Amino acid sequence: MKKQITMLGLICVTAISLLTGCKSSDSTQEIIRIGHNQSTQHPTHIALVEFEKFIEENLGEKYNVEVYPSELLGSQNEMVQLTQTGAINFCVASNSLLETFSKNYSIFNLPYLFSSAESYHAAMDDTSLTDPIFKSTGQAGFEAVTWLDAGTRNFYTVNKPIETPADLKGLKIRVQQSPTNVEMMQLLGGSATPMGFGDVYTALQSKIIDGAENNEMALTDNGHGDVCKYYSYDMHQMIPDILIANKQFLDNLDDETREIFEEGFELINKVQREEWIIAVDAAKERAQNEQGVQFIYPDTAPFQEACYPLHEKMLEKQPELTSIYEKIQEYNKEYASGGEQ
Ligand code: GCU
Repeated sequence: MKKQITMLGLICVTAISLLTGCKSSDSTQEIIRIGHNQSTQHPTHIALVEFEKFIEENLGEKYNVEVYPSELLGSQNEMVQLTQTGAINFCVASNSLLETFSKNYSIFNLPYLFSSAESYHAAMDDTSLTDPIFKSTGQAGFEAVTWLDAGTRNFYTVNKPIETPADLKGLKIRVQQSPTNVEMMQLLGGSATPMGFGDVYTALQSKIIDGAENNEMALTDNGHGDVCKYYSYDMHQMIPDILIANKQFLDNLDDETREIFEEGFELINKVQREEWIIAVDAAKERAQNEQGVQFIYPDTAPFQEACYPLHEKMLEKQPELTSIYEKIQEYNKEYASGGEQ
């Protein structure tokens, strides 16, 4: 299966390079391919294009960077596999999906893990907390090199406003393909329908599902707000996106080159987060004014109570993550107030 996907990926990469007429590269340059599943207006794409410029300005003789948006190289799951085998060098994957490649990532998928956006950002910026997770996947063929903001995930539905967990009963809600997300929906009483991001719009439109959960950008950038008219700030998760790299590619960089790449990874994080703030505000305004989406602010306490058993369960299954979990609780105390809404 993996081999088939890799072959397909390679064929795609070659075909897309030809079709899009990507910048010509001379034979001495190595092509660096980065895949992601967002549009070209999305903060993630904008940041990766800045990285492309930065690497080519500083290491242009050696490298030609190509950024592939919009699932051109496949779904996130497929792109992670292409990165593992080295068919491509980097991809952006939601932390949710990485849980199926390495259990360590499940901690950041816990609902109501962070008490505020400030706490989330502080924890993700603390490399003593993220490094043990980011560097733990060498055996799987990849390593995380930085994180990207993906805001706060909330429920949105076609025609039933969600005010309490009871409102989710009987509704089919798309979730990301991760065991934590499926369990979370079970605890909240809805019916979890896992699927890839690219399939959600059609599933909503054809009423295969009643709703989904994501940040505000999904309403506008992915058109979900054309179909779903109720967006409820239950604030159940702040799940980062993670830029992962093929491990062998990273290991083969000499020290000087690696340093430049590290600077580039920091640049991606900085630009993406700055652009994120602007993009979310604009998305909210557009969803409200142009798509007619109604924003709802329910009491989050009943949602939180329903989800807390997942924390205990994860710590029982993975006691090695306890110190990271406790550190996050310290940040939660330090930055106690609400999330991004
Ligand atoms: C967000 C996130 C993506 C993810 C998507 C999803 O858009 O940034 O990485 O793929 O949610 O729900 O699948």
